[in-house]
Amino acid sequence: MNVILCENYDDLSRNAAAMIETYVRANPTCVLGLATGGTPLGTYQKLILGHEQKGTDYSRVSAFNLDEYVGLEASHPQSYHTYMQEHLYRYINVDAIRQYIPNGKAVNMEDECERYESLLDEIGPPDIQLLGIGENGHIGFNEPGSDLDGLTHTVELAESTRQANARYFPSIEDVPKRAITMGIGSILKSKHILLLASGSRKAMAIKRLVSEEVQSTFPASVLHQHPHVTLLVDRLAYQLV
Ligand code: GLP
Repeated sequence: MNVILCENYDDLSRNAAAMIETYVRANPTCVLGLATGGTPLGTYQKLILGHEQKGTDYSRVSAFNLDEYVGLEASHPQSYHTYMQEHLYRYINVDAIRQYIPNGKAVNMEDECERYESLLDEIGPPDIQLLGIGENGHIGFNEPGSDLDGLTHTVELAESTRQANARYFPSIEDVPKRAITMGIGSILKSKHILLLASGSRKAMAIKRLVSEEVQSTFPASVLHQHPHVTLLVDRLAYQLV
């Protein structure tokens, strides 16, 4: 795992966006893996600036999202469909037919998991997969105890994850209890993984990530098995003592 220590969140976001942009410019038909949550927002803002000011072109890029809440309409204000539109897609030119996000309202969620994994195999895997990390080490919505080879599946969210995400909802009762997520096995198919971590809230997870061996109780540790992972971390999140 290659660690890039950044001064602060802005620096981290600039670095992440620069890596993505450089790749997209050199490989205009590439496949990106995108994440949600607070952490990638700065990266998306920089990508938007790069599109507006330097004309970085996404018209032939395909983009896969990691996960979606089960039970929320795509148009729900807190769905990850809405997040992607609001924070990225309305500003850059990724073609709508190449924006892939799991459907949390599918009639048959098992079929939806299979459909999404097949798309990943046909069009993907992502050349670059952006990842955040949960305080309990989850990646995507792969909670502690997840199958380390798992493919796209539905999960029951850990109470701590629902609490952490409650800030985006009117109350904790409104936070969905289930999600559909690319599995750890799906994530590991990506060619290059960019893991972002910022702020002291993530310090314990990063300390565990760097020091612990692969174990399903801390899903992010599986990244040690991947040949090409870059951890972009700011000073507040990188406190190893
Ligand atoms: C959510 C997402 C994850 C994300 C995590 C951390 O649960 N499913 O993909 O990495 O939250 O979010 P944040 O970046 O807001 O701390």
